[in-house]
Amino acid sequence: MHTQISPPTERTVRRAAKLLQAGELVAFPTETVYGLGANALDARAVGRIFSAKNRPADNPLIVHVASPVAAEELCHVTNDARRLMEAFWPGPLTLLLQKKPVIPEITNAGLSSVAVRMPDHPVALRLLEACGLPVAAPSANRSGRPSPTTARHVLDDLRGLIPLILDGGACKVGLESTVLDMTGETPAILRPGGVTPEMLASVLPGVRVAETAMRPLLDGETAKSPGMRHAHYSPKGRLTLVEGEPDAVEAACKRLYREAEADGKKACLLVAQERLPAYAGYDTHTLGSLRAPETIAQTLFAALREMDETGVEIILCEAVETSGIGLAVMNRLRRAANFHIIRA
Ligand code: TXA
Ligand code: MG
Repeated sequence: MHTQISPPTERTVRRAAKLLQAGELVAFPTETVYGLGANALDARAVGRIFSAKNRPADNPLIVHVASPVAAEELCHVTNDARRLMEAFWPGPLTLLLQKKPVIPEITNAGLSSVAVRMPDHPVALRLLEACGLPVAAPSANRSGRPSPTTARHVLDDLRGLIPLILDGGACKVGLESTVLDMTGETPAILRPGGVTPEMLASVLPGVRVAETAMRPLLDGETAKSPGMRHAHYSPKGRLTLVEGEPDAVEAACKRLYREAEADGKKACLLVAQERLPAYAGYDTHTLGSLRAPETIAQTLFAALREMDETGVEIILCEAVETSGIGLAVMNRLRRAANFHIIRA
C-alpha cells in the first residue's frame, strides 16, 4: 500500500473522512501526538489499527469526539465528568466512563469503561466533523516505539501500512493526554499528561494520581490502565534516568558517560538547555528549557527517536521536577528507562 502524506487542505480532510467512513485508517495530528484513526463503531476497522500497530488486543483505545454531546452517545457522562469537559475540552484530557452498548468490544478491550476525548487541534476537529463518527485513535506509532509528534515520525513507523497521513506540523503538547479514571470512588489519574493534577484539582478537589502511574507494577499486580503494563516509549539504546540532588546527578551522569566510553559504547546526554554548559565536551542532545517545562515535553519523543537514528547505545538523562507537566515528563522518562533509575 502506498502511504500518502498530505497537508490538511479541505480536499484531503474530505478524503480522510471518506476513508474513515469506508472502514480504512487515517493518521492525523492532535495537540498531543499524532493519532491513528478508525471508525470506533466498526469492529473490522478498529481491528486494522491493532494490526498496523502490532498492538496487543488487551490494550483499549481512546475514542475521539467532536463535542461533549457526541460523548454522551458512547458513555454515561457523570456530573463531575461534565464539569471537567466544560473546563478542559477540547484539550489533552481523556475520561474513562461507563460505556454504552454501541462500543464494540475490540475498541475498549471488552472492559466496562470506554476512554473519550475531544482533541484541541483544528485538523482533528475538522476531520471529526467531516466524517461524523467517533474515531478510535491510539498514538500513530508501532507498538512500543515513542509516540509520533510529527508526520515524518508516523511515516517512519507506518509506511506501507496505511493510506493517508494528514500533516499538521509538530504537535504542541508533545506527550499523550492525561487519562483520568472517573469510574471509581475518587477520580484517579492513570496516565499524567497535558492537563496536570494541579489543573484537575482546581475543578475536582478529590483527584489523585494512581499509585501505579509512576512506578513499575509489582509481581501479580494489575494496572487499571492496560497500556501501563506494556513496554512503552522505548528507544533502542539503554536509557538511564538519574535522579537526586543536582551536583550529585551531574557527577553521576559524567561518571556513567565515561564508563560507557571506556566500554566502547556510543553515549549521549539528554539535557535541558540550561544544563549544557555543565556538559561541555560531552556529546549532548538538548531538550527544552527547565524554565519552560512544556518545551521539554514538546521535544522529548523526537529526542528519543533521534537517539535511535544516530545509533546511541547509552542515553543518560537528568530527572526534572515533577510539578505541573513535569509529572508527565517524568512518567514517560521512567518508562522509557524501563525504570532503570539511579538515585545519585
Ligand atoms: O493524547 C492521546 O491520548 C493520544 C492521541 C492520539 O489522542 N492517544 C493515545 O492513545 O495516547 P494510546 O492508545 O497510545 O494510549 C491510550 C491509553 C493506554 O494506556 C490505554 O491502556 C488507556 O489509555 N485506556 C484506553 N481505554 C481505557 C479503558 N477503558 N480503561 C483503562 N485504560 C484505558
Ligand atoms: Mg500509545
